[in-house]
Amino acid sequence: MKPELGVCYYPEHWPEAMWAEDAARMIGTGLTCVRIGEFAWSRMEPQPGHLQLDWLDRAIETLGSAGLKVVLGTPTATPPRWMVDKHPDMLAVDEQGHPRKFGSRRHYCFSHQGYVDECSRIARIMGERYGHNPHVAAWQIDNEYGCHDTTVSYSAPALHAFRQWLAKQYGSIEALNTAWGNVFWSMEYASFDEIDLPNQTVTEPNPAHVLAFRRFSSDQVVAFNKAQVDVLRQLTDVPLLHNYMGRVLDFDHFEVGADLDIATWDSYPIGFLSDRLEDDDGHKVAFLQQGDPDMQAFHHDLYRAVGRGRWWVMEQQPGPVNWAPYNPAPLPGMVRLWSLEAVAHGAEVVSYFRWRQAPFAQEQMHAGLLTPNNRPAPALTEARQTADALSELGEVRQEQAKVAIVFDYASDWAWATQPQGAGFDYFRLVLSAYRALRRVGMSVDFVSTHDLSGKYDLILAPGLATLGQDLESRLQSACKLAILGPRSGAITGDFQIPENGRPGLSALDCDVDLVETLPPTVERPVNGGGAALHWVDRLSGSATDLLNFEDGAAALKGENGVWYLAGFPDEQLWDRVIAMAARHTGLSVQAMPQGLRMRETADHVFLINYNANPVIWNGQTVQGCDVAILKRNPPGQG
Ligand code: GAL
Repeated sequence: MKPELGVCYYPEHWPEAMWAEDAARMIGTGLTCVRIGEFAWSRMEPQPGHLQLDWLDRAIETLGSAGLKVVLGTPTATPPRWMVDKHPDMLAVDEQGHPRKFGSRRHYCFSHQGYVDECSRIARIMGERYGHNPHVAAWQIDNEYGCHDTTVSYSAPALHAFRQWLAKQYGSIEALNTAWGNVFWSMEYASFDEIDLPNQTVTEPNPAHVLAFRRFSSDQVVAFNKAQVDVLRQLTDVPLLHNYMGRVLDFDHFEVGADLDIATWDSYPIGFLSDRLEDDDGHKVAFLQQGDPDMQAFHHDLYRAVGRGRWWVMEQQPGPVNWAPYNPAPLPGMVRLWSLEAVAHGAEVVSYFRWRQAPFAQEQMHAGLLTPNNRPAPALTEARQTADALSELGEVRQEQAKVAIVFDYASDWAWATQPQGAGFDYFRLVLSAYRALRRVGMSVDFVSTHDLSGKYDLILAPGLATLGQDLESRLQSACKLAILGPRSGAITGDFQIPENGRPGLSALDCDVDLVETLPPTVERPVNGGGAALHWVDRLSGSATDLLNFEDGAAALKGENGVWYLAGFPDEQLWDRVIAMAARHTGLSVQAMPQGLRMRETADHVFLINYNANPVIWNGQTVQGCDVAILKRNPPGQG
């Protein structure tokens, strides 16, 4: 597959007289794809049933005849004002019970059937009109499910649907009472109709209730997406996709992705460094204008899995964004670096957000490839340079990595429901594991608990909330060594401590007798270096201690191809564990300099330097904010 570049464009924001010139300039920049339409409902249907699509016909024609492939968005993330008047109860309701208002976007509740039907209707109208339009190469459904905290809604339609969902899951109210442990605090119900949503309780609601509601809320997103998929599948043969947002975990992306052909995500490296990463230690200053060296790659690898190999960056940050607490500009070279890094991880398309900066409304401070008055912004040149680099590179072939990480959305919901310690967070833990693998130059795949069909040398499954016999044996047969813990197999799907204890493994005689969580300034040192942070599982059992805390307790136990880590490792402990695992499985490790990352494809080695300064590694100089692309030696030549 030869990677391509694209851009997000809003023809409805600009006079029609500009469209042809814009299209020609996109082509001149080396862009081949353009995404349009995803927020344009008020222009497509200004009043209920009064469609105005001529402008969209002309926009598609202008862009397409210039040589661009159009990705057409369904506009369902931005229901127009009349829709809210027509369906006043379609608004999502926040945890405090307040309806979210019209005046921005994503103001709908996934459970409102009337709104779902409106979305199917507009998807049908668009599909009938453009499903076989030769310029339309793909469809994006909606925009960034879950962004702005919109997955969960405490609305009346959500309550109604939740009760039905529970009745289907549990069959009888007695079964639900038992599964949730409702005897505790006299929370027992006599019928499903008595069950409320788990908000506004006096103190914390039953975690089983909350987790069930989180699972339900995820299922509602899957069903919402599927409703449009079902319509469009009948009307077009081109791929259907969605653009997910970084570190938005409130619904199961694997399940939404199962109904789509391609996964795409929106990559804002500098915004993410500032607004969604915990770890600091000077890191946020060192990479202020570059972004975190692992955050983008983490999502690239995750979405490669969600898309079953097919994935894009739909929105690539081109300059300062408008939404983080502070919004510095990328250092020169970074837009090109991010783009090539995505390609190294298998992106079929990298598409910049957006073509021209909007002079009005919420995002007027958000850079584009062009300034609002149509002059080139710095990223335009880098987009052109990237296009040239891609022509030189040609095809990029991916190969399966030797190491994988299990990513499980439900574990994030579980641990957010009952964190037990303020520093313990599922994403943070998995990212720390990912960073450790990347620090020693490993290429990484993600896998879901549903698909463990690939064969790996090593699989890491940190913090995997619910295990069970079947998953344990599938994990074991998918790799030479599986590393679990901390907090793995700690609850059942109904949020109870498993009957046979934690983690309840059959491969490993190892029990969690006690759990401790730690404030940020405290750590539990391990003999020989490194420490556990945030979370400690106190282990007993006959399985061999591979590492011990300084007080003698087991820090890592292992046998039969399964290891259990007893705490949230700091960097040094992760490095030691990965080095031990590499020795055990025969994997090769190469310590990478700070900020330099390596990604191997079938034919190339990409060296990606997030540092502002040049780095020399293995005799190779990589300039600051630059990517060195080397040919891989053919097998046998070392
Ligand atoms: C994304 C969104 C875009 C735009 C962008 C700004 O989350 O999909 O529509 O708002 O952020 O960075």
